[in-house]
Amino acid sequence: MNSHSVKWGKLRAALMARLRPGRGAELEASKLRQLDEYVSGMPCAQNAIDTLPGWNHALPEAVGVTAGAGFFFHDGRILWALEQFGSIEGKAVLEIGPLEASHTYMLEQRQPALLHAVEANRLSFLRCLVVKELLGLKVARFFLGDGQAWLQGSGQRYDFILACGVLYHMWEPVRLLELMAARTDSIFLWTHYASETAMPPGDLRRGAFIGAMEVEDHHGVSVRLYRRSYHGAWQDKSFCGGIHDRHRWIERDDILALLRALGFDDLRIASDEPDHANGPAFSVFARRTQCPMSAEAAA
Ligand SMILES: C[S@@+](CC[C@H](N)C(=O)[O-])C[C@H]1O[C@@H](n2cnc3c(N)ncnc32)[C@H](O)[C@@H]1O
Repeated sequence: MNSHSVKWGKLRAALMARLRPGRGAELEASKLRQLDEYVSGMPCAQNAIDTLPGWNHALPEAVGVTAGAGFFFHDGRILWALEQFGSIEGKAVLEIGPLEASHTYMLEQRQPALLHAVEANRLSFLRCLVVKELLGLKVARFFLGDGQAWLQGSGQRYDFILACGVLYHMWEPVRLLELMAARTDSIFLWTHYASETAMPPGDLRRGAFIGAMEVEDHHGVSVRLYRRSYHGAWQDKSFCGGIHDRHRWIERDDILALLRALGFDDLRIASDEPDHANGPAFSVFARRTQCPMSAEAAA
């Protein structure tokens, strides 16, 4: 046997081994192993939802998906805010902290000319984009980053700014109020607030507070601020707090006094819940009816 036929004999044996019964299918299966970032099968809305972890909100039933538990597409706080403002048709609206775009959808349904939504959390921002696609939002534009920096840097004026669930996540909540006041004459806030009467020392809801109350003077108001920490809650993918672990709550009446000092002469309050499980909370609609442009000076 010459060396040529030995070589071919080995090659043939190797090929036969690979082609033993069942081996071909194994090879095919390994070639077809689905790669990590791919989705096989029929495209569907649930695939898009399952791509991102941490969903807080459910989507409308018609979309036919399972996402988070909370349903916020008819949120009474936003309905109340819209009732106070009046029609937003053709208006420029800013939403800070859209989370998963439920409120953004409510706003878009009312046909604003411009709808900006600024979200600081990467996963939330991406979840908003998924909702935008699944619900076919056309006007809303989502931006990833700090709403406070947006107010300071974008130069855009809005007819209405909504910050639902945002103020109490800020390290500098007074600055957020000032910046909103510099960009609009109408603000809606839903926020937790501190209160020595509704939440006196010893109240379990003060558990996240750190250290003593601080007082800062702003616009002639002595603002009482209370430091808090999330105590690690931010590690959860569905976390929906602020950019920094440290954040400060303002005393209820100081929020109102600040808004007045910033020129908002029409203040309306709803859903005041001093007993809210997570800490006292209320909705505030603030409108500047006198000297609308004077707030530019506040920025
Ligand atoms: C408690 S959730 C409220 C979500 C929604 N607005 C609602 O009321 O159901 C706060 C949201 O604001 C976002 N957020 C916190 N700080 C922010 C900031 N500085 N700029 C923009 N978004 C912020 C969070 O990531 C989260 O989506």
